[in-house]
Amino acid sequence: MDHFAYRDGRLVCDEAPAAELAERFGTPLYVYCARTIRHHFRVLRDAFAALDAPPLLCYSVKANSNLSLLRLLHGEGAGFDVVSGGELLRVRAAGGDPKKVVYAGVGKSTREIHEALAAGILLFNVEAETELERIDACARAQNAVAGVALRLNPDVDPKTHRYITTGKKENKFGINLDRAERVLRHAQELRGVECRGLHIHIGSQITDPKPYVEAIRRVLDYVASGAPGTERVRWLDIGGGFGVHYRSQEALPAAAFAQAIVPELAGRGLNVILEPGRFIMGNAGILLTRAVTVKRSGERRFVICDAGMNDLMRPALYQSYHRVWPAAGQAPPADQGARDGHGHVDVVGPICESGDFLGNDRDLPEVAEGDLLAVFSAGAYGMSMASNYNTRPRPAEVLVDGAEARLIRRRESYDDLLGPERECL
Ligand code: LLP
Repeated sequence: MDHFAYRDGRLVCDEAPAAELAERFGTPLYVYCARTIRHHFRVLRDAFAALDAPPLLCYSVKANSNLSLLRLLHGEGAGFDVVSGGELLRVRAAGGDPKKVVYAGVGKSTREIHEALAAGILLFNVEAETELERIDACARAQNAVAGVALRLNPDVDPKTHRYITTGKKENKFGINLDRAERVLRHAQELRGVECRGLHIHIGSQITDPKPYVEAIRRVLDYVASGAPGTERVRWLDIGGGFGVHYRSQEALPAAAFAQAIVPELAGRGLNVILEPGRFIMGNAGILLTRAVTVKRSGERRFVICDAGMNDLMRPALYQSYHRVWPAAGQAPPADQGARDGHGHVDVVGPICESGDFLGNDRDLPEVAEGDLLAVFSAGAYGMSMASNYNTRPRPAEVLVDGAEARLIRRRESYDDLLGPERECL
């Protein structure tokens, strides 16, 4: 469910017409819908309300780290899942509560560990035994005790793109289950850490609850085995990964995941953490872009836009599918997903690479130069993965709530681009 719709022949975001936003703020432009973000957050929270205790929803900052969006989610009661000192800094700048922060990441630096300890975060999700020792040393140096959760690798296949599969044993993430006992024992010997939880994150854009159930069973079997240290385990962090619609209606509602997962956890006395990123943001954002040049080459038509792979990297990096459609006229047909891939239009960016596309082989109505197009489902891993490749300023971002539209990140200027080098010239 989202609040982007075609009304009277034009695309609106909630009550704000896309064309007016593009006129006012320029393109390329990320547009987010506050109502959709809140809706997804609440739907997920409510779906898991049947757990023994309400879950802590730690929004995964990497999906979209804009300060105003973090603030909005903090207002909803969210905690945060961070993977760097920079993301923690963002959470704090947005007014988020460090006591509701979990910190994962396979390469935490000593500096980052110190910063997170000083901030008083809830849990470090520990990815290796040597990392545990580093966290212990940092904590003792600060006279603190770090709350940690072991990130376990449950070795399940979430059946998603291989670049975003994280819980198989050949992936770099987490500690293999057969080593867990040894690491947990080790943790007990370290004065600077207390192992209070276990963590899994099996992948992203997952559209089947079964791999979660399988992974949770493996971890809970381990807890039930009564291995030393497991009695201290109060938190079970089941990670993120719930998929969203990109093509048509391929994702599952939160309730479908909850129905499968909640019974597994019932009566265990564990506090559950979820780390949703894409589920909250994916369909809450679009990228508005203008056609700069339209040209033909035999049967093919190229619509060359002012947004490219530096603004939205997902198609180039994962060949991922985003719906692309003109902002004026009729809504895309409901079966666009099924028919796509056979069209004659390549919607591409201005970057000097053939992999720079937004949507290939599309069936699109006639597009003229200057027309506005929307790239849908771009709220997650869009702006947060944008770069300055080809020395292009990153887009502006706008948050719409009702009829009100507010700039939440200004467009980068040429000074922003050259600044860090100019001072070294
Ligand atoms: N927790 C951990 C430990 C993670 O590594 C991730 C995502 C999440 C939570 C949030 O996952 P989500 O709920 O958003 O699926 N750039 C890729 C996605 C990379 C996901 C990385 N980890 C993409 O654009 O598809």
